[in-house]
Amino acid sequence: MDQLKISNIRSASAKYAGVLDLREEILRKPLGISLRNEDLSRDHDDEIFIAESGNRIVGCLLLHPYDTGVVQLRAMAVANDWQGKGTGRSLVQVAEQYCVLNGIHKIILHARKVAMGFYTSLGYTAYGDEFVEVGIPHYLMEKQLIE
Ligand SMILES: CC(C)(COP(=O)(O)OP(=O)(O)OC[C@H]1O[C@@H](n2cnc3c(N)ncnc32)[C@H](O)[C@@H]1OP(=O)(O)O)[C@@H](O)C(=O)NCCC(=O)NCCS
Repeated sequence: MDQLKISNIRSASAKYAGVLDLREEILRKPLGISLRNEDLSRDHDDEIFIAESGNRIVGCLLLHPYDTGVVQLRAMAVANDWQGKGTGRSLVQVAEQYCVLNGIHKIILHARKVAMGFYTSLGYTAYGDEFVEVGIPHYLMEKQLIE
């Protein structure tokens, strides 16, 4: 397996276009919808974590400011050929380290029901009722990073 490099960028980066391509491919196309029909202005406030293999972006997640000391993890995606190899776990772990260093004590997220096991394995817990987003069932999940 090629070496993975994980780093964080902002939407002004030249690499942001590759993040949009990955989100389109993994998070929108399979649902028959497109990011082109969405307001992406929230992205400009976000810290964007990317996993790169060479010049290719193979994983991403965004941290959006939510409340004092709280961020929302969103747009979590790993390229099909990089899934099941620890890519997603590495991305989340690096993002969590960033949070701890920056005084963020809690991460919340909208988990697709099919991906809840991934977040559970990383210490996230579900709360509240099932709800629908992008046409599929989701649950709120959270993780307290600092007590
Ligand atoms: C969900 C996703 C981000 C996980 O990333 P990944 O790189 O495939 O996951 P990892 O290889 O790092 O897996 C880490 C752990 O989570 C588990 N896991 C991964 N995907 C899972 C899933 N869909 N359901 C249950 N468990 C899952 C793995 O088995 C592994 O468990 P282990 O620690 O016991 O070995 C990725 O598969 C993906 O992009 N899926 C399609 C888009 C999606 O659903 N995104 C999430 C939107 S909320």
